[in-house]
Amino acid sequence: LQLHGALSRDEGFGIIAHRGAASDAPENTLVAMRISFDRGVDFVEADLHLTADGVPVLMHDPTVDRTTNGSGEVADLTLAEIKALDAGSWFGPEFAGEPVPTLEEFLDELTPTNSRALIELKGQWNDEQVMHAVELLHDRYLVDRVAFESFELENLVRLEALAPEFARVMLTREWNRETLETASVLGASAVGARNRVFSSNFGLISEARTLGIGTMVYTLNSKSKWSKARNRGIDLIITDNPVALEDWRGVN
Ligand code: G3P
Ligand code: CA
Repeated sequence: LQLHGALSRDEGFGIIAHRGAASDAPENTLVAMRISFDRGVDFVEADLHLTADGVPVLMHDPTVDRTTNGSGEVADLTLAEIKALDAGSWFGPEFAGEPVPTLEEFLDELTPTNSRALIELKGQWNDEQVMHAVELLHDRYLVDRVAFESFELENLVRLEALAPEFARVMLTREWNRETLETASVLGASAVGARNRVFSSNFGLISEARTLGIGTMVYTLNSKSKWSKARNRGIDLIITDNPVALEDWRGVN
């Protein structure tokens, strides 16, 4: 199955490094991204939240509590306040002082590499916020190297209306015929879900293909799971161990 834009691939499944390289370095930091870039991993995945002053930053949770030394909602903190936080020490002392990157800083690191990116819009984004992200991508000629993903259908609708040139992955908690219909209506290039969501209705994976819709599964960290996903015809595998999965794909 030939997926659209940034998701396209000649053969086999694509590897996506979850939150950078989440098993080796603090998630969603540039040091984690660089591990994957240096290795030439197919894709890195990054989560985006908006600060109180509307700047997209790399952060998974809606609060900074788990992955920084601060506390509070990302949406209530300004960029300056977030930049003062340490997003590395929680993972290990060698990462002390690692800052929370902005989307712009992340894209500047991505641009000179051979990797692509899958960026997840967390929460709901308005037109202006979506267009700001889209412009950052266009400024760097990243149309064929970055795809969007979101659980929020409204974000996907907005992206289709404002920037249809970018591939979109519809994240879902269900996997049935209705999921496929929704993905099709939204013009999504792929549907992404947790492994157990795909543990039934296997037949729909090939039906999705006939509609030109790929499948992406997260977050698989063992050989047995990689093997099952590949045998089921999954197009994209998200993992915390991209280097190990690359090695496995090379010999399997
Ligand atoms: O890319 C999909 C996956 O990352 C969504 O789950 O919680 O890791 O953002 P989460
Ligand atoms: Ca994510």
